[in-house]
Amino acid sequence: MATQISNQFLTLADGNRMPQEGFGLYKITDEKEAVNAIKWAYETGYRLFDTAQMYENEEFVGEGLRQLSAPRESYFVTTKVSEANQGYDQTKQSVVSSLKKLGLDYVDLLLIHWPVHQHFFETWRAFEDLKAEGLVRSIGVSNYGMVHLEYLATKAREMPVLDQLEVHPWLTEKPMLKFNAEHNIITQAWSPLGRGKRLDDPVLLKLAAAHGKTPAQIILRWHLQNGIAIIPKSVHQDRIKANADIFDFELSPAEMQQIDGLNTNHRISKEPEMVYEFGYQYPY
Ligand SMILES: NC(=O)c1ccc[n+]([C@@H]2O[C@H](COP(=O)([O-])OP(=O)(O)OC[C@H]3O[C@@H](n4cnc5c(N)ncnc54)[C@H](OP(=O)(O)O)[C@@H]3O)[C@@H](O)[C@H]2O)c1
Repeated sequence: MATQISNQFLTLADGNRMPQEGFGLYKITDEKEAVNAIKWAYETGYRLFDTAQMYENEEFVGEGLRQLSAPRESYFVTTKVSEANQGYDQTKQSVVSSLKKLGLDYVDLLLIHWPVHQHFFETWRAFEDLKAEGLVRSIGVSNYGMVHLEYLATKAREMPVLDQLEVHPWLTEKPMLKFNAEHNIITQAWSPLGRGKRLDDPVLLKLAAAHGKTPAQIILRWHLQNGIAIIPKSVHQDRIKANADIFDFELSPAEMQQIDGLNTNHRISKEPEMVYEFGYQYPY
């Protein structure tokens, strides 16, 4: 069968498999919008859904998943523990509450949303225990730089299998991608389209014309060829479909380099090392 969004997986360091491209659910806070987006995404072939306690939509996501009437093993769900819920007991309680909202017995992947120095190690210890207890299949982090990962390694019983980071053509994060790859940590790009703010870039427009694709598809293909995972978000059915239609063309090494050249280290979010204290991560 030809490679497509529904059958393109990456293998995590713990042996579990994860779709390379998934569906992002940040800022979808309307129930109907969430239910429709999940339905359209699943019909298109997306099999990974990315939510978080902070998004305040876990109940709607749960409803969307329930309405799919699809076997639980056919889709992969990620949620993230918010800063306010960090700490050993609170993390564990918050995950039980997330599962209830999602209507699930387990999540496939649980992430620490941001590194904060309060409860840094206890939160991770709760993650290791939640995995051992079977409430989560894989454990990882988000917005962790090298320094956070090295620090975590001083006490972790097992290391994160995934680091979800802001990555797009204007923030290519090459050293971080290399570090994660060398440590058997999958990088998953959040805001992989840079929130769609600069899709009129001349380099992207030229590549899009050359391949008969859109600038958004060019960016998503660039991520795939970098070997990382992606979770683009859209509430529009045509974009949801188009964002998955990236498995039938290839960018040359020279074209990959042209996109690399767009990097300006521009962040949508805060620099994680600068907000390594509870309460400074938002808004963005
Ligand atoms: N771990 C973290 O700290 C963190 C932070 C942010 C996000 N995330 C996760 O990453 C996911 C993706 O990031 P994101 O939602 O911030 O940004 P994104 O996926 O880069 O971009 C989404 C934006 O681009 C628009 N868009 C989507 N497809 C398009 C297309 N083909 N053409 C033109 N515009 C398009 C969407 O608008 P429409 O919806 O109107 O189509 C939306 O405004 C989130 O949903 C969330 O799950 C994680």
